[in-house]
Amino acid sequence: MSVTTEAKRIAAEFEYSDVAVNEGVKEFIAQMNEGLQKNATTMSQIPTYVTAVPNGTEKGLYMAVDLGGTNFRVCSIELHGDTTFSLVQSKVAIPKELMVAKTAKELFAFLAKQIELFLKEHHEDHFEASVRHRTTVSTPGGYTDDKAFRMGFTFSFPVHQVGINKGTLIRWTKGFDIEDAVGQDVCELLQREIDTLKLPVKVAALVNDTVGTLMARSYTSPGKTSTLLGAIFGTGTNGAYVEQLNKITKPMEGDFDKTTGLMVVNTEWGSFDNTMKVLPTTKYDQILDRDSINPGIQMFEKRVSGMFLGEILRTVLVEMLNENACSLFSDKDSSQNDYHSTTQILPNSPLHKQWAVDSSILSVAEADNSSGLKILRQFIEKDLGVAAASLEDAQAVKDISHAIAKRAARLSGVALAGIVLQTGRLDPGAGDNPGPKSAAAIAEDIKAGNIGEAAAATAKKLADTTGISGNEEDIVDIGVDGSLVEFYPGFEDYMRESLRATEGIGATGERRIRIGIAKDGSGVGAALIALVAAKMEKMLTASNAGN
Ligand code: BGC
Repeated sequence: MSVTTEAKRIAAEFEYSDVAVNEGVKEFIAQMNEGLQKNATTMSQIPTYVTAVPNGTEKGLYMAVDLGGTNFRVCSIELHGDTTFSLVQSKVAIPKELMVAKTAKELFAFLAKQIELFLKEHHEDHFEASVRHRTTVSTPGGYTDDKAFRMGFTFSFPVHQVGINKGTLIRWTKGFDIEDAVGQDVCELLQREIDTLKLPVKVAALVNDTVGTLMARSYTSPGKTSTLLGAIFGTGTNGAYVEQLNKITKPMEGDFDKTTGLMVVNTEWGSFDNTMKVLPTTKYDQILDRDSINPGIQMFEKRVSGMFLGEILRTVLVEMLNENACSLFSDKDSSQNDYHSTTQILPNSPLHKQWAVDSSILSVAEADNSSGLKILRQFIEKDLGVAAASLEDAQAVKDISHAIAKRAARLSGVALAGIVLQTGRLDPGAGDNPGPKSAAAIAEDIKAGNIGEAAAATAKKLADTTGISGNEEDIVDIGVDGSLVEFYPGFEDYMRESLRATEGIGATGERRIRIGIAKDGSGVGAALIALVAAKMEKMLTASNAGN
């Protein structure tokens, strides 16, 4: 079989139809609700104890740290109170051996050390002042931490949260595996190492990166619509959204403000459908899962996120190479090859090593539309370790990459659709979002003299052509972050295909959904939650003093 035919056959295995999208959305909503009612369900639906989203007027200087993938970030954030902020940050790669360290202490001591280096470099005054305060203070109550920086800790793994700064690790994902951390309070683990170094820092809030993204987007997003969902499509994938408090019927342990009637829920949708009721699967997905450190877990994430897409591609290519019938990467001499050179799989090729193929090659393959696929062929040499791949080989890599990524994006759209429908935000009159005015309602307005005819005509035109009635409230706002959604060409378009295909959303609903990149969610968002936590702490201290 020719390489081209075989590639097309395999690509077709990754097709994910509109019918499957609708089945996926229904099951997604069912599993969301199960997670709101019970513990230990596939989708954890973790209550975050965050009960409001910001409106852009918040102010103050906060710190944030972010552990969740390949890097550890430390930052300080000045919120200006006018939807803008300034941010200073440092970033360091997490040594691979610490991701699988023997004890949690090794990892958390490393993190505290990075916080110390950051403070010394960027906030020396505050650091020195606090050391002086600590050594000279002689009040009867001893040293108090009211001068300490309030810090939001973005920890992007599934955590059983029991308070705004308290939560125990449920399981590691994304290649981390430190057994003795599971079941421990990760804020305490970090605070302990911070205290060992005597740093003026208090871990005030525990934040998942998706919650941070939601908060950051809400703080910075245009207009007065508050954001419904923060979603990450990067190394891992997940989403956090604003849920009605009365729909969370499983027990919640911590204290929180009930007045808003809302709570942000961290879905942990990476583990949607671990039992494989509706998720699409191919032989390549099965091989990847079988050889992973957590078979049967994070099944949605394994089809969607950056950590896995390169590995799916590698698995397909390796299987093609093992197939004698197909001659991928095997032009025997230069006369067969348009490169005037013989194709060669180099001895140390990443194709031979698990996890060695970075997902970024999928974006390169999608973006290269030149007739000779020159750029992709350079990357095939660099990233796949195959010298002088033919145009046919490169086209095969492109077709397969496209199929893998398109399925990932359409699946991502299922998650967005599930949340939009679950929250009823598109329904007319729904809280933030009354929905576009019908022609009849506009006619009523004219009759009642509420609206001039010209204005009505404009409103109607806008409603007809865009599905948006011109009211800011009619928009459903979603903040997204992560390398896939940021760099894969057309990722959002494919998510939108799924939204349009979903019954109950359709083309009209899809047009009312605004998706915007929320950069720095893990920094600004964590700072915003640290601010909320600090306010709560003050309230509690005041009410205790009053008693
Ligand atoms: C984690 C989530 C996280 C997501 C994105 C997943 O593997 O379980 O907690 O939000 O990755 O970083």
